Amino acid sequence: MSEKLWGGRFNGDANDLFLRLGASINVDIKMANEDIEGSIAHATMLSHVGIITEAEKDQIVNGLKAIKEEFNEGNLHFSYQNEDIHMNVETVLTEKIGAVAGKLHTARSRNDQVALDFHLYLKKRLPQIMALIRSFQSELVNLADENLETIMPGYTHLQHAQPISFAHYLMAYYEMLDRDYDRFEFNQKHTNMSPIGAAALAGTTFPIDPHFTADELGLDAPYNNSIDAVSDRDFAIEFLSNASILMMHLSRLCEEICLWSSYEFKYVELSDAFSTGSSIMPQKKNPDMCELIRGKTGVVYGHLNALLATMKSLPLAYNKDLQEDKAGVFDTVENIEPILQLMTEMIATMQVNKDLILQAVEKDFSNATELADYLSAKGLPFRQAHRIAGELVAKCITENCYLQDLSLEQLHNYSDLFEEDIYEDLKPHVAIQRRKSYGSTGFNEVNKQIEKAKEKLKGE
Ligand code: ARG
Repeated sequence: MSEKLWGGRFNGDANDLFLRLGASINVDIKMANEDIEGSIAHATMLSHVGIITEAEKDQIVNGLKAIKEEFNEGNLHFSYQNEDIHMNVETVLTEKIGAVAGKLHTARSRNDQVALDFHLYLKKRLPQIMALIRSFQSELVNLADENLETIMPGYTHLQHAQPISFAHYLMAYYEMLDRDYDRFEFNQKHTNMSPIGAAALAGTTFPIDPHFTADELGLDAPYNNSIDAVSDRDFAIEFLSNASILMMHLSRLCEEICLWSSYEFKYVELSDAFSTGSSIMPQKKNPDMCELIRGKTGVVYGHLNALLATMKSLPLAYNKDLQEDKAGVFDTVENIEPILQLMTEMIATMQVNKDLILQAVEKDFSNATELADYLSAKGLPFRQAHRIAGELVAKCITENCYLQDLSLEQLHNYSDLFEEDIYEDLKPHVAIQRRKSYGSTGFNEVNKQIEKAKEKLKGE
């Protein structure tokens, strides 16, 4: 007979290489605390309904608590021979308290146990991630507050489009992060569910109380369907999807910071703390961290795709394929937590070269829309106004000047509607100030966005 916990029906031992490949302890060791917490709740429920005695429960719970302590002190050695965290913990428990340890696995299977651990793992991390998102948002709002009147060129197609407030740009990221927060918050609804009690897939003949176990663990409710309970990984897919969207947002900001800290732009300068030098080129100050975050975005997308691919066409209920569900989630958590923290600090310490950013809109054509709007406000159909503005831009390009450099006389060759006040409208500062539409770059509008954000952040 095999020595394995499940070895009763086996005559021979498993192939050692297969055991090593099949073992998940190196990955699921990260859920050791959750595994023990889940087992403590399960044992408490078993005694609550009278399946085990109070004394047995105490023995089991005390044993589990001791294991938890030893584990967190780094004094426990787990082995691939015991395959996964569940059987490793149970083996250590048996060594500690003897045969009574075997009662812990009454009315449960590793299928509902592993699902429970995974739920508990994410349940703990989601609030941490959400708090980090909020800190990052606060820093964006701080920076926006300091840069309400910092004027920069807004871009479309990476070409100068219209002047905008730098604060407006930063608040766009605040909004993205706000949706990220909402998505992780919603993620809790499906994460904070308890699969324990589903057993292998069909439930159990024992008179268990899964609502009690769920309560003990601070989970909202047991799954309604035991087959779904052990097969469902939607909560993890949702997490990876949310993380992918978050990383996509961060990668866009990182890309812009890389661009803006380049020699050609010099809009911002990163603190030395978040830059690296070159081993050969002494002048270099590279935005490595931003590049790395861009790179890690691809890795997180990969984890999402990997889990979706693992789940594709997977028959119900538990299949060993599901063991591959955790590594990508753990890696994602372990990356996005420090990334959010570092991005927050990086933004807080970033130098903004207000003068250089302003210069970029003083010598460009990002005020061409203002000129077209000016004419159309005086009654010219916008299409005609647009054409005239375009022709004036073309003239300036040939004559190597800007719209504001043209004399009123020159402007009159194109339209009689031009008056002295056109020069005021062409100023980037005025272009921004005159924008009053909801959510626009107008200083007042951006200020409202900032105040609203501060109110929201304060309220939590
Ligand atoms: N290590 C397994 C996993 O991570 C635990 C569940 C195993 N269940 C089973 N019937 N083999 O999915």
